[in-house]
Amino acid sequence: MDDLKKPILPGKGASDYERYLHTDELLALQKLPEDFLHKDEMTFQVVHQASELLLKGIAWELDRARLHIDEGEFSNAARLIRRANQMLEYPISMQHVLETITPYDYHIIRAGLGHGSGLDSPGFLSMLHIGPRLGESFHAQLRKANLSVDDVYRRHDEFFGLHDVAECLLDFDERIHLFRFHHLKLAQRIIGGGVIGTMGTPVEVLHQRMEHLFYKELWDVRNQITAKANEAMLKPKAGCAY
Ligand code: HEM
Repeated sequence: MDDLKKPILPGKGASDYERYLHTDELLALQKLPEDFLHKDEMTFQVVHQASELLLKGIAWELDRARLHIDEGEFSNAARLIRRANQMLEYPISMQHVLETITPYDYHIIRAGLGHGSGLDSPGFLSMLHIGPRLGESFHAQLRKANLSVDDVYRRHDEFFGLHDVAECLLDFDERIHLFRFHHLKLAQRIIGGGVIGTMGTPVEVLHQRMEHLFYKELWDVRNQITAKANEAMLKPKAGCAY
């Protein structure tokens, strides 16, 4: 019988676990402790790298979901957007870990960042790329079925698949908003809300960017539904004595 402890996969690494996951390479991607400007730099780097890795996985699932929407496979699309949304919880919550770095210590790390800025985050840029494309695919399906956003919400039982996708997109939009909200608070706590970032962008811009939504129409339809409900309540009912 084969020795189950011996690796059988190709590549470097003492075990198949290490070979499959390329842990040697992955765990060598951080600065060496002797090169750290501050001991908190390990946490700073690991949180950023882990976020980038998760955002890569999220973009992958969202792009798969987009193709399912194009094919009219709404259950599969919703399943994958849900998965992406669950993954997105971690880049959001990991930001709180960085709140434990004190402002003075952070400036020691910051001195070694050059012009490095989250504005160039490949992971977050991929969110800004895929978000609108998902919306376009969703709206193409609405046009194909000759439906408005309001129709999908009003007749949600009949168009359950499209309604499910719409709600998953709304969840995605909300999480991007939450990422930006927690990131703004992080920046305000560590470097302050009235300063300029490493790439020359005032922290205040992060505040303005929070206003950005991918799917405004999915938020706005709630206003229309409430307005219609209010209108219906004000109308005197037939057969009613008062
Ligand atoms: C100590 C922690 C952090 C501080 C003080 C900080 C600060 C900043 C500042 C000042 C900006 C404005 C642009 C500029 O750099 O000039 C920015 C942008 C950004 N940062 Fe961070 N950041 C931190 C951690 C993170 C982490 C963990 C991520 C996760 C990937 C991240 C992602 C981003 C993104 C995506 C933007 C662009 C924001 C947008 O488009 O709304 N940052 N950050």
